[in-house]
Amino acid sequence: MSEQIQVAPPAESYPPAPAPPILQPDAGYLGYDRALLRPMSLVRKLRGVLKYLRVRLRGGPMAVNMEVTYLCNATCDFCDYWKVKRSGKLGDYDYVDAIRKLDPMTVTLTGGEPTINKQLPEAVRRIKESLGFVYVGMVTHGSLLTVEKATALWEAGMDHISISLNYIGREHDEERGIEGLYEHISTLVPQLTARGINVIFNTVVMRDNLDHVVPIAHLARSMGAKVSYSCYSDYKNGNETHLVDPGHAERLESVIEDLVYQKSRLGNIVNSAWYLRRIPAYFRDALPGSCTAAGKWLVQLTPDGDVKPCAELPVQSGYADYKPVSRKIDCNRCWYSCRGETESSLRIERIWELLGRAWRKGA
Ligand SMILES: C[S@@+](CC[C@H](N)C(=O)[O-])C[C@H]1O[C@@H](n2cnc3c(N)ncnc32)[C@H](O)[C@@H]1O
Ligand code: SF4
Ligand code: SF4
Repeated sequence: MSEQIQVAPPAESYPPAPAPPILQPDAGYLGYDRALLRPMSLVRKLRGVLKYLRVRLRGGPMAVNMEVTYLCNATCDFCDYWKVKRSGKLGDYDYVDAIRKLDPMTVTLTGGEPTINKQLPEAVRRIKESLGFVYVGMVTHGSLLTVEKATALWEAGMDHISISLNYIGREHDEERGIEGLYEHISTLVPQLTARGINVIFNTVVMRDNLDHVVPIAHLARSMGAKVSYSCYSDYKNGNETHLVDPGHAERLESVIEDLVYQKSRLGNIVNSAWYLRRIPAYFRDALPGSCTAAGKWLVQLTPDGDVKPCAELPVQSGYADYKPVSRKIDCNRCWYSCRGETESSLRIERIWELLGRAWRKGA
């Protein structure tokens, strides 16, 4: 691991946080998910439903992962962004035009490390203003995030902030090569949720953290946060050491069984049960069928304004020339939540689940 990097100092000028909404893991399911989403007006809910129908009829894309920089200040051994020296800035192309053209249901700001980009609140505001309905999130490792910066993003209209968390404790610092990162996240998150900001931990299921996967759901709940699980893939940089091997298959099965149970009990696991149940098959290389999301329902927008079918495939065109891929891509190299949940969102059971949840929010 290379030299360790420090996290952002706390914003001393910011007023102290109100007490975090501590929820006991054993309190049973209490309609938890109702507490933490930005309330939606009836008009916005209807716009969301109409937009979904329009995107379905048009044939995508549902989700855009928008990289806002190539740079990263971490040193993960399973991802090579931090080795890239070229920044890529939002000013390099007309990103509002690109988002208007792609016109998705959701935009997730990502990178590299998105918080390195200083234009984020402005970008969120402009993206929200450019489309009638769009849900905007961000995934960050969190080291540069402060209460002040998160509040600015929330006030600009961001709908959730995902913070990567693969371990409880110092192993997380070691994974990211950022000294004090776990401590920083565990202090910051309750302050954000206490202010009503929707925080979701992004947890990658892999060989090394199987004992942390379920405890992270409990930890999230105790902090007033949610959790979304994804799966490790060696497609990013060829590192196979974190794949769940046959020797850990039984342990993985019991973790996933527990997660599906905890989903109905804790109420803060945002994945569909359909997605979670396919995780063991993915690691056995036994997913049924092949990818139906990449390039059609899901696309990756690079900091240069190019479109890739997904994070791992090469550029297909500039955004202005984007056309949904017409052939099925013969690939099962990942079971990232962005792929699996996009595929899940086209299934009727998931549509009912999401509609029911959206309808109750803010009601
Ligand atoms: C590429 S990162 C960019 C955002 C930010 N730098 C971060 O790490 O949160 C987006 C997400 O992908 C996850 N990720 C990175 N490499 C991965 C891999 N090889 N397999 C699965 N997920 C991976 C990260 O943990 C993070 O949650
Ligand atoms: S996973 Fe995120 S934090 Fe780690 S190197 Fe990649 S971009 Fe950086
Ligand atoms: S399975 Fe789909 S989303 Fe995943 S790497 Fe392959 S083409 Fe990309």
